[in-house]
This record gives sequence, C-alpha cells and structure tokens, in this order.
Amino acid sequence: MSEAVTGSLREDVVARLRRSGCVFAEEEADLLLAATPDGAAREELVRRRVAGEPLEHLLGWAEFGDLRVAVRPGVFVPRRRTLLLARLAETALARAERTVHTRPVTVLEMCCGVGAITARLTARSAASPRAAASPPRLIAADIDPDAVACARLNAPDALVVEGDLFAALPADLAGTIDVVVANAPYVPTAAIGSMPPEARDHEHRVALDGGDDGLDVHRRIAAEVGPWLAPGGTVIVETSVRQAPTSAALFRAAGLHTRVVRDERVEGTAVVGRTRHRSTDGAAREHAAGPTTDSARREAGRPHDGAATGAA
Ligand SMILES: C[S@@+](CC[C@H](N)C(=O)[O-])C[C@H]1O[C@@H](n2cnc3c(N)ncnc32)[C@H](O)[C@@H]1O
Repeated sequence: MSEAVTGSLREDVVARLRRSGCVFAEEEADLLLAATPDGAAREELVRRRVAGEPLEHLLGWAEFGDLRVAVRPGVFVPRRRTLLLARLAETALARAERTVHTRPVTVLEMCCGVGAITARLTARSAASPRAAASPPRLIAADIDPDAVACARLNAPDALVVEGDLFAALPADLAGTIDVVVANAPYVPTAAIGSMPPEARDHEHRVALDGGDDGLDVHRRIAAEVGPWLAPGGTVIVETSVRQAPTSAALFRAAGLHTRVVRDERVEGTAVVGRTRHRSTDGAAREHAAGPTTDSARREAGRPHDGAATGAA
C-alpha cells in the first residue's frame, strides 16, 4: 500500500542500516525508501538489506560510471575498478575502427556478467558519428543464465550468448574478433571465505571462484583465444596487482605482447595483450612490445593520461 516517507520513518531506517554496518546508511535509506511507494514492500527491502543482501540486488540496478545497469539477485555487481577495462576496450575499439575497413569491427565481452562494458560500448557508439555510420559488432558471453538475462537487457543491440567461454560463440566469428575484454573470475578458491559477505554469500560462486591460484579462467582464455582473434587483435583482462605478473605471463606464453596497466583512480589493474599487427598494406608485423605512440601510451595508462600509471 502507498505510504509517504516521513522524517521519522527515514530516521528509523537510517538507524537500522547503521546498526547493521552500512557505511552509507543515509544514502542507502533514501534509495531503498524511493524504490517503491508500497510500505510493506519497502519494509521488506530494508529487512533484506539489514540481513546483508547487496543494495544493488534489492534495487535492481547498479551504477557503472555514468550508466545505470540492470542487475538481479545472484549476479556479480559490476565494480568501479572495472571501469579501467571499459576504458581500455574503448581505446582498442577506436584503434580497430581506424584500421579495419572491410568488415565491422568486432568486440567480445567474455565473462560479461550483466554486460556493463558492452553497455558502455553501446552508449559510446550511439554518441559517435563514425560508429553510427559503421556500428561495431558487439558480442557478450557468460555461463550464468541470470547474468545473460541481465546482459540482454543492458545491451539490447549486442549478441548475448550463454555457455562455457568460447564454446558459446558462433563458429563464424573465428578470426574476426578485434577486441576481447574479460573480467573473468580471479579470486583464489581459498580466499573466497574472506570476501565481504555481500559477495561471498550473494554473488554466484561461478562469478568469483578462479581456482587454486585464481587464474584458472585466465589460463583457459589465454589457451583458447588465439583462433578467435583477428590480426592485430587485443585481449584485455582484469587482474589484481599481485596476480598481474602471472596473468601477463599466461598471455605472453600464448604468443601475445603483453603489458600491465594500473589505474589508481579506480584501483583497477589489467593485462593488455596484442597479437601481430596487420598494417594497411596487409602485411603482418610485430606490434612494439611497449607503447611507442601517443595512443599506445594513453592505452597503457602511463602519465600521458593523468593519474594512471603503468605497473609494468
Ligand atoms: C567477476 S564476474 C564479472 C562479470 C562482469 N564481467 C563484470 O565485470 O561485471 C565473472 C563472470 O564470469 C562468468 N564466468 C565464469 N566462468 C565462466 C565460463 N567458464 N564461461 C563463461 N562465463 C564464465 C561468471 O558467470 C561471471 O558473470
């Protein structure tokens, strides 16, 4: 039943949230109280939040930069640090748009979760005259049906497929993907128990568990990505500062030129790997191992783009 939010109701909700350990109790109270006009439904949301469910699962949306993306209970809630991946994917997409002219530029968000990066790339395309004239082909893939359902809402123009890594993809994509971006699970199994309860108890295990050293899925991506990449293709994976050297070594062993990018603004870390570059005359040549141009330096997140610094 519709019920106005009085000052005393708000104070009561703030106090309950604060007692349960919410750091941003006022902001959360306002969001929960605004989520529905139904008094009983509101009380149920507050009760579940006090019991530890993630705010985003209760609201049905999460912020990812300046976008609001749909989430549902159980799925991984996009983290701010993953904005680094989105930025690197945008840069790699823009570079591919400058060099690929005979087919649509193709970007795959592997392990897409709710498809937050693909949603950002879609928004970017809508705002770019170049992309509007020749839109990139956006594909997103995940093994979790709940995540796939959200990704289809968040990126309605993308092809969103469900399945185990590359087995989910249509075979005719082989050799055509210019950018693969993946925030795959990378938490070591033994560390899951010490994650915050909101993640540990409310996000699907498949979204978190990266195996013994956390890098099982990275290992598989590195081993399987080659045949899917177009010449000059880029692979971008999120990792942690501690795991970055091993992640990078996996992609280097798979024949990619790799570098580690760290962005302190969002506390994100990524490994960027490049295949051999195909120049406009069609000849394959090695891409320089380190950034040599302004755009490469920007991609590497070196001092050229402000606060970000290259970690390796
Ligand atoms: C850490 S979450 C990240 C989700 C999303 N990329 C984001 O940043 O919000 C990892 C995602 O990988 C998916 N995943 C795990 N193993 C997978 C596999 N073998 N094939 C496809 N997706 C997988 C999970 O379902 C989950 O959505």
